[in-house]
Amino acid sequence: MTADPQVHVLPDADSLADAVADAFIKMATDAIDQRGRFIVSLSGGSTPKRLFRFLATKHKDSIDWSKVMFLFGDERDVPSDHEDSNFRMANETLLTPIGIDQPPIHRWQTELGDRDETARLYDKTIRSLKQPIDLTLLGLGDDCHTASLFPHTDALNESEQLAVANHVPQLGEWRYTMTFAAINASRNVMFLVTGSGKATAVNAVLNGKTDANARPAQAVKPRNGQLFWFIDTAAAAFWEAA
Ligand code: 6PG
Repeated sequence: MTADPQVHVLPDADSLADAVADAFIKMATDAIDQRGRFIVSLSGGSTPKRLFRFLATKHKDSIDWSKVMFLFGDERDVPSDHEDSNFRMANETLLTPIGIDQPPIHRWQTELGDRDETARLYDKTIRSLKQPIDLTLLGLGDDCHTASLFPHTDALNESEQLAVANHVPQLGEWRYTMTFAAINASRNVMFLVTGSGKATAVNAVLNGKTDANARPAQAVKPRNGQLFWFIDTAAAAFWEAA
């Protein structure tokens, strides 16, 4: 049963990152207490950088980071040290600063030179967890994409695989992404959206006609989990709570 989304509007990007960090730590504490580990799938792009920095500084000692397993909701088709790599961004802002040796970090092995093999291995990694992801973090593009699930792309229709390579004609490039099958199996999913540039997309996803092919973020509906939206006032400018 999909619970209604919880929408939190925060004044600005810093207060949003603070609120999400607090929620992250609470979820992690509960998961570690109950199951001995916290499985989190990190989002990419620029929005999460503040959150990751807050977690690595204000919350460096809030939890036992060695009990956190890190996954990545999507990745660019670049080496893991490339400036566009989501892994590199998370490594610089969170994983290296929290300074745990050999944490369970599962990045997409983009160096294999075989996109289908990279995706197959990631699918295998997710299935090997034998339990749902505790928290999936997501961003929102101004075209209503999330992860690398872009409008009108093949990955939107994937119902079996949990991880795929996805050609994105609008970018003229390949991406790697968890599918809705993986995302919607999470215990918790959080969208983090800031800035006036996302105001139209936020309103279209939350209030617009349902059309997941055109607005992929609308297909994020955790089957047995809770969906959260954390948006700042700039991104909420056109959205009216129904
Ligand atoms: C990526 C992300 C993507 C991102 C949105 C928002 O690899 O870029 O996974 O889905 O979350 O495009 O990006 P910004 O946070 O940079 O606006």
